Amino acid sequence: MDRYVFLETFGCQMNDDDSDRLLGFLKDINYIRTEKVERADFIIINTCSIRDKAEQKVYSALGRFKSLKNEKPGLVIGVAGCVAQQNGEALLKRAPYLDVVIGTHNIHRIKEILREVSVNKRRLAATEFSSGIDGHEYGPRPFNIGVKASVSIMRGCDNFCTYCIVPYTRGREASRTGADIMNEVSALAQRGVKEITLIGQNVNSYGRGTELGFAGLLRKVCRVEGISRVRFMTSHPKDFSGDLTRLFAEEGKLCPHAHLPAQSGSDDVLKRMKRGYTRAQYLEKIAMLRAVRPDIAITSDIIVGFPGETDRDFLDTMGLINTVRYDNIFSFMYSPRPDTAAAGFDGQVPLEVKSERLRALQAAQLKITNEKSRALVGKTVEVLVEGVGKAGPDEFFGRTSCARAVNFPAGAAAPGSLTDVFITDAYANSLRGALQGSTP
Ligand code: 5AD
Ligand code: SF4
Repeated sequence: MDRYVFLETFGCQMNDDDSDRLLGFLKDINYIRTEKVERADFIIINTCSIRDKAEQKVYSALGRFKSLKNEKPGLVIGVAGCVAQQNGEALLKRAPYLDVVIGTHNIHRIKEILREVSVNKRRLAATEFSSGIDGHEYGPRPFNIGVKASVSIMRGCDNFCTYCIVPYTRGREASRTGADIMNEVSALAQRGVKEITLIGQNVNSYGRGTELGFAGLLRKVCRVEGISRVRFMTSHPKDFSGDLTRLFAEEGKLCPHAHLPAQSGSDDVLKRMKRGYTRAQYLEKIAMLRAVRPDIAITSDIIVGFPGETDRDFLDTMGLINTVRYDNIFSFMYSPRPDTAAAGFDGQVPLEVKSERLRALQAAQLKITNEKSRALVGKTVEVLVEGVGKAGPDEFFGRTSCARAVNFPAGAAAPGSLTDVFITDAYANSLRGALQGSTP
């Protein structure tokens, strides 16, 4: 008999991947996904704890589901992801209507966990860490197969940047085997996927100490027949190697885009964040990338208001933005996280100061992003057609190799094809264009 699962996902690409895996394992025991929460036999929230705001969303989401439990006695409610890992049993105490807490290394155990709950009537928190990645943790992928797919290559992080909760919620770095990854990529290519994004918290550390390493793996993925574009997320600047940089010149399928989180432009702040590079070393990596691939898009993550950040430090970050001229950035106010070193640092910055710095930073970046978008007007760019756009069946949507969104009249282009689009207009978050020609 079919049962229904309602799943809500917060957070990063790793959580999206975990949610896909969860749905894959649930499908084996006849669960169908529903968007109607009242219909669900199992409600699961996959959570993020990177900043306090993200964590608070979990508690308000849970509050919404509490009343459903009274109406439907057999309903199972669960929390997965980083908040689950971080808080474990404490969540069961805090929310008496919660049945299961599933840590980040326990997604693949969902079937036995649900059995414990339904058959043995146990509430439980499964938050044990495992040291390596077992091939069985990645089941079949029956969901969300479109033109693009992400493939997780590693998990965890060993860097312990002083602001970051990830090493505590995702555990130590562990890599999947090259064979497992290549099998998954080939299977996706056979199902019509054209663009692969290799994901991990810190992909440059993939297979550390092994012969293949990240650059080697990336090269192999670029050679898979049927795949036309390859991307990766997220890199750590300190580990961004010369081998990897050279691939941007050598592998035509590798998209000219590097997400290289700087976090700050101040050497003092970088040191206290324990980032492992100076501003000059960071700029050197960017210069190397631009030397081999002048059109490369560079994006970044920036934190404002890290403990002890002075006006001078912040100006250094503003200076970095204007020096690098990023294509885009994700920027955040520093949020103290449990267990992290920086939460106990002196010089916590007041909210008003953080908020004003964030506003100034975002305004400066918006200006640069807009200038870069406008510079594309009148140029022809290659777009991977993803499908029908929001404006209706005659409009197609796709992305450039630098991941900019482009809308254009559908014409003869087909989803999955690489198509040349002549850019006619630039808006805040997207480009508009006209079709030039299409290669199936
Ligand atoms: N406060 C604010 N931003 C954070 N990030 C990580 N930890 C924190 C924190 N405690 C940001 C970093 C990271 C991105 C995913 O989230 O910029 O690169
Ligand atoms: Fe967090 Fe630093 Fe690891 Fe990135 S590299 S996940 S910021 S500890």
